[in-house]
Amino acid sequence: ANDGELPHKGYHLGARTAGTGVRPALAPFSTQMPILPTLQPVQSGLDVDIYKIPIKAGTAEILPGVQTPVLTYGGRFLGPTIRAKTNRRVKIMYQNQLDMPANVHLHGGHVPSVSDGHPMDVIQPGQARVYDYPNTQQGATLWYHDHSHHMEAEHVYRGLQGFYLIEDDSERRLNLPSGAYDVPILLRDVEFDANGELIFFDDPANRTTILANGKAQPYFPVAARKYRFRLLNGSNEHVFQLNLGGETMTKIASDGGLLPAPVPVTEMQLASAERAEIVVDFARYPIGTQLVLSNGSDPILRFDVVRRAVDTSRVPDQLRPLPALPTPTVTRDVALSFDLTADPIGLVNGRPFDPARVDFQIKRGSTEIWNVVNADTFAIDHTFHMHLVQFRVLERNGAAPPQHDAGLKDTVRLPPGGSLKLQATFRDYLGKYVYHCHYLEHSSIGMMAQMEIIP
Ligand code: C2O
Ligand code: CU
Repeated sequence: ANDGELPHKGYHLGARTAGTGVRPALAPFSTQMPILPTLQPVQSGLDVDIYKIPIKAGTAEILPGVQTPVLTYGGRFLGPTIRAKTNRRVKIMYQNQLDMPANVHLHGGHVPSVSDGHPMDVIQPGQARVYDYPNTQQGATLWYHDHSHHMEAEHVYRGLQGFYLIEDDSERRLNLPSGAYDVPILLRDVEFDANGELIFFDDPANRTTILANGKAQPYFPVAARKYRFRLLNGSNEHVFQLNLGGETMTKIASDGGLLPAPVPVTEMQLASAERAEIVVDFARYPIGTQLVLSNGSDPILRFDVVRRAVDTSRVPDQLRPLPALPTPTVTRDVALSFDLTADPIGLVNGRPFDPARVDFQIKRGSTEIWNVVNADTFAIDHTFHMHLVQFRVLERNGAAPPQHDAGLKDTVRLPPGGSLKLQATFRDYLGKYVYHCHYLEHSSIGMMAQMEIIP
């Protein structure tokens, strides 16, 4: 079957180029980091919340005094935060007001295939579509983003992304920092031209301006107490090396929810689409202290300790045991690569994505081992993401992952020469789901494949 015309042959995959963008001359830390507003349901029932979100073009003040054209969920850059509860249904009606197809994937969500936002299952311009999410999974920091085939990279880059948080009762009982002290932060890169417009067709390495909740180098006033920060790397292609200038961040959760126990770290890698939740205790610092969250040595966001506050929250020594690992019955091999002589050039197991082809048939309820390798000869980084499941990383390059990286995951980095041994259980739902490199420029040009869950 024909995958259709590729609109995006302009992707740059090679070494860093000079680029056409500019790094805006900004007074650092002159804007306050906004909180992405929590969306209110248009209607709530006994066990369901119903939301409405238009998908539309707009402008946003990303740089002070400059209006930048963007794409939005709901009119703002970036999308509103949805707060869901385990076992309480959420239905979202998306109205596509763009002049091109769009859709929505709930990244990390355990959802029926009809609501998964499969790349070929799009909302036509002028049409609306209801996605139905049962939220039958434990608390986790998920996110939603466009997944319309060939267009996902550009759509997400221009703003079609937002947080979707699931909370559960056992997590609430832990008494972690909550309410105003539970702050989702979407970190992502952009490249601007001299007019403050976003440049998309360029080497992603030139996206050197990092935004926190849609602002470049903002500050965020905090009280001298504990905060829970839910960090998402919403970049199409960027691995962040996050640090707080050597200060301790206590990692409590990864993509799929809480770790068994908190792990103190001073540095943390976060690849595209990965999430990490950290608790920072600002009570350790005098009022007036400024702590900078940086990507390597590049400052992203400054926390200003400005006031005292009561703090009854805690980070218990034990958070939540990981689910037991059932015995696997099937082993599969997956290789991601580019072939510059192929068309399209992005490949999984030697073949580009073909929506008419099922690459793996998987029995519902089964547990499988997936050995995933970066088979490139180009020294290009990849990541690996599976829809439907939260998996466990059993091995990375033949060794068990460190404690802070051994929790529930749906996306992992796969650097040149790298290999992963993953275990996943395919529960509940039947139908077709994709797995792919989450560098969205790569999935856009074929580095994606399809599994079908069968009875
Ligand atoms: Cu975050 Cu297939 O996607
Ligand atoms: Cu890739």
